[in-house]
Amino acid sequence: MTTESLAFGSLAIAFDHRVLRPREWTVAQSEWAAQILRTAPDGPVLELCSGAGQIGLLAVAGSGRPLVCVDASDVACEFARTNALAAGLAEQVDVRHAPLESAVGPTEVFALVIADPPWVPRLDTGRFPEDPLSAIDGGPDGLDVARACLQVIRRHLAPGGSALLQLGTTEQADVLADEELHLADALTLSEVRQQERGVLVRIDRDAASAE
Ligand SMILES: C[S@@+](CC[C@H](N)C(=O)[O-])C[C@H]1O[C@@H](n2cnc3c(N)ncnc32)[C@H](O)[C@@H]1O
Repeated sequence: MTTESLAFGSLAIAFDHRVLRPREWTVAQSEWAAQILRTAPDGPVLELCSGAGQIGLLAVAGSGRPLVCVDASDVACEFARTNALAAGLAEQVDVRHAPLESAVGPTEVFALVIADPPWVPRLDTGRFPEDPLSAIDGGPDGLDVARACLQVIRRHLAPGGSALLQLGTTEQADVLADEELHLADALTLSEVRQQERGVLVRIDRDAASAE
């Protein structure tokens, strides 16, 4: 098994072919998250679908915030631990190998949730033969895992907190925004930024709300 390494912002990230190759454009998700963290409520950061961990690690680097990384792939979790150690962040990072639906305890609350679910519609996954299917297959409309992320965000985002969700297209963001059930509970889809190969969606929770 050949381990590769590449630069992701200021970090060196290790990975191999069993996990998604880190995509340079997703540094924008880390940078936006880091910016939000400067004024976010106190508390830890949750990264759902963290893969090798680079997006969350770069987001919290220098902030002192605890980071919980969650991924269903044991290989991805091993790389996330290795990459946290290499970044000097091992003591503030808790990597959980689990389905995101069961990885977070009932009383845990996060100031920021970063989510990078698989978002390729199932019938299109054949266009990306080099990518592990479990990292890109988002179900019939590409939104199955994104919807599950929204349920975690709904349950565990602190009042005044924010989430940054990665999707493939603005149309997918529109679909989620129209599904009012998922954005209920004082959650507002406040901004969508088009990136080179995907979109980033910011969701905010009212400061006065309480789950
Ligand atoms: C698009 S990849 C993103 C990985 C990493 N954030 C990156 O940018 O390279 C999606 C990740 O979600 C994980 N995943 C898929 N379904 C999941 C689930 N139900 N619970 C937890 N992780 C899941 C996959 O193992 C994969 O690592």
